[in-house]
Amino acid sequence: MENIPAMPVDRRLPDRTELRSLLRSPMPDNRPAIEVKSLDKYFGPIHAVRKISFSVDHGEVLGFLGPNGAGKSTTMKMIAGFLRPDGGTVLVNNLNVIDDPVGVKARIGYLPEGAPSYGEMTVEKFLRFIAEIRGFDSTERDKCIADIIRIINLGSVRKQTIETLSKGYRRRVGLAQAFLHDPDVLIMDEPTDGLDPNQKHEVRSLIKNMSSNKAIIISTHILEEVDAVCTRAIIISAGEILFDGSPGELRAKSDRNDIDDAFRSITTAQATGLAG
Ligand SMILES: Nc1ncnc2c1ncn2[C@@H]1O[C@H](COP(=O)(O)OP(=O)(O)O)[C@@H](O)[C@H]1O
Ligand SMILES: [Mg+2]
Repeated sequence: MENIPAMPVDRRLPDRTELRSLLRSPMPDNRPAIEVKSLDKYFGPIHAVRKISFSVDHGEVLGFLGPNGAGKSTTMKMIAGFLRPDGGTVLVNNLNVIDDPVGVKARIGYLPEGAPSYGEMTVEKFLRFIAEIRGFDSTERDKCIADIIRIINLGSVRKQTIETLSKGYRRRVGLAQAFLHDPDVLIMDEPTDGLDPNQKHEVRSLIKNMSSNKAIIISTHILEEVDAVCTRAIIISAGEILFDGSPGELRAKSDRNDIDDAFRSITTAQATGLAG
């Protein structure tokens, strides 16, 4: 069992109108959408995330790359407010995730690893449940569910329970709940993991179509995905950032101008102690 420390509880939960206004409240000028400073996380003796700092602007799609166990999911959970950091700060649209977890969650769409776990709910009921949590009134709710079902192409399975869906459809339901409130910050943990090539292509297109003016972080093991959807890449390994730059700059790290080659040389240099 995962031993995840609880987030501080905001006892006064906002009502529906407050939640909706939170999502659309204006952003201070010239601030990045996501600012991560010296973020640190231990699991017992494991130093999973080691004082990492970076920021993401609106309009950027940041690819989070790194070997298994690098700390990608842990970092994403901390940004999304699902895991409490041991040190450092996360600001989302200038709100601190520890001081204002509800405000931050209202502005974020988060696709966790794997698939939604409410297997016994139908797709429509699940999305209705999410819309209610998000504070939509019944008219808004019905409209946004109809929109997302159309955009994500879930019409044929809307009455089916989630547990009976194929992996590809289950992932689409996960994306639907993350996109439902049209947040301007999206955190997606391996959105194409385990999908077949056609489904991968479909999910990438969806993310691309949804991405204008949003700040997006996606983690992936598939380096071609960086070219397909990302404007920027960060390589994280053993809890540290080893590279932060454009896909082109990443490729230029390889003599052969090859992204896999660049990834391998950056991550194995660290493993053999050659990285600075
Ligand atoms: N809940 C947890 N309890 C203990 N160790 C954990 C937990 N979550 C992650 N870890 C450890 O933290 C490190 C980073 O994990 P993770 O963030 O899942 O990596 P990634 O997503 O890059 O594969 C790994 O060593 C992993 O075993
Ligand atoms: Mg992970």
